[in-house]
Amino acid sequence: MKMKVLVFFVATILVAWQCHAYNMFPLRMNTDYAARSTEAKCASWRLAVEAQNIFGFKTIPEECVESTKEYIHGGQYESDSKTVNQQAYFYARDLEVHDNDVFVFSIDATVLSNVPYYSEHGYGVEKYNSTLYDEWVNKGVAPALPQTLINYNKLLDLGFKIVFLSGRTEDKREVTEANLKAAGYHTWHQLILKDPKFITPNALAYKSAMREKLLRQGYSIKGIVGDQWSDHLGDHRGDSRSFKLPNPMYYIE
Ligand SMILES: *[C@@H]1O[C@H](CO)[C@@H](O)[C@H](O)[C@H]1NC(C)=O
Ligand SMILES: [Mg+2]
Repeated sequence: MKMKVLVFFVATILVAWQCHAYNMFPLRMNTDYAARSTEAKCASWRLAVEAQNIFGFKTIPEECVESTKEYIHGGQYESDSKTVNQQAYFYARDLEVHDNDVFVFSIDATVLSNVPYYSEHGYGVEKYNSTLYDEWVNKGVAPALPQTLINYNKLLDLGFKIVFLSGRTEDKREVTEANLKAAGYHTWHQLILKDPKFITPNALAYKSAMREKLLRQGYSIKGIVGDQWSDHLGDHRGDSRSFKLPNPMYYIE
């Protein structure tokens, strides 16, 4: 009898300990659960966005505002950006560099950060407002994405030519040049901005057309660094590899 009591006692302790380890006391309200499940869902959402399994979204899910904020400011965004830029450098380092070899960079959310804007606009939960966004761009105060700036300097050292290819329109040339320089991008081979008379169905078609022009000019595109799938998925990519930077806040077709 004593033995049975002892076995029961030990078993109870073991079960309780297991339940504790897995945080599943059935009768205790688990106040962390909702927050953790939202975090897991939003991390999955971001991964699906990066993998182009989710696309064409106009706003991020409302429940993901806090999680996106934490992603952006808590170190994960910079870590992800570092990994992508580092891989671009590792790839470039092993290439034999020729005179006309270029790396094509997007500008917004790739070389210049628009986190200061989006942190005032719900991290993408508000619908895109071109008036407000243009006002912010025209201030020319965007900081560099630090990990892209490091990669940019390394690619220059390796001898690659840098082309900035942006959906920003020509009227923003002066402010864009000043902003790039202020952020630490001291040189580039071409800065391609959008002629508003050049109508394309979307950014993907525009960027493809501009790359075609580069190829016709005799450049060899070795790498593309951009935060949008429309920077990567079009035609006329030369023999480039793609380096997709994270952007959990908005989607451009
Ligand atoms: C953009 O924001 C401005 C200023 O808040 C507002 O007047 C305008 O209606 C907004 N535009 C759209 C399309 O929401
Ligand atoms: Mg971009």
